[in-house]
Amino acid sequence: MEQIIIEKIESSAILGKCAPILVEAYNTEPWNDEWTYEKALEKLECFYRSPKFIGFSAYEGSEIKGACIGNIEPYYTGDYYYLKEMFVLPSAQKKGIGKKMMDALKQHLEQLEIRQIVLFTAKDYFPFNFYEKEQFRTMEGMNMMHFGAENG
Ligand SMILES: CC(C)(COP(=O)(O)OP(=O)(O)OC[C@H]1O[C@@H](n2cnc3c(N)ncnc32)[C@H](O)[C@@H]1OP(=O)(O)O)[C@@H](O)C(=O)NCCC(=O)NCCS
Repeated sequence: MEQIIIEKIESSAILGKCAPILVEAYNTEPWNDEWTYEKALEKLECFYRSPKFIGFSAYEGSEIKGACIGNIEPYYTGDYYYLKEMFVLPSAQKKGIGKKMMDALKQHLEQLEIRQIVLFTAKDYFPFNFYEKEQFRTMEGMNMMHFGAENG
């Protein structure tokens, strides 16, 4: 396995390479989504345009294998980072890439004195344990709510 390099995302040009990874990562177990390249790219570009966007990509050699993206949002007790997406190519998962991206993100946020990261994930699927290992905890007393048809 080649060395994993984590790089801060500094240009939207990379999003076209991240979109197919998002598609592969979510169109398989446990999510079994039905992302298309176009919709994935639209979503990543939408996040990229958010104020105070911060993202990291992971390379193995010259090939991009994963990314994490989100943005800093204001809050009266202190601004927090909202982790919108984190994904690794299925064939590259369980090699420590997710952890390396999370380490880079946490280190960067520490330098910015951002002390909290929030995210949504399903409670019964694997990534929940990944985040728990990374010291994330369920926010007691909070519910994610939704209006409209379940399937869009
Ligand atoms: C979540 C995700 C980003 C983790 O990336 P990754 O590169 O596979 O994670 P790592 O290799 O750094 O693994 C970190 C830890 O999780 C464990 N792990 C990774 N994948 C696992 C799996 N499918 N089942 C059980 N444990 C797993 C690793 O063994 C490791 O544990 P350890 O530190 O005790 O050895 C990746 O699985 C993914 O892209 N999933 C699909 C998209 C997704 O669900 N994103 C999050 C949505 S909220």
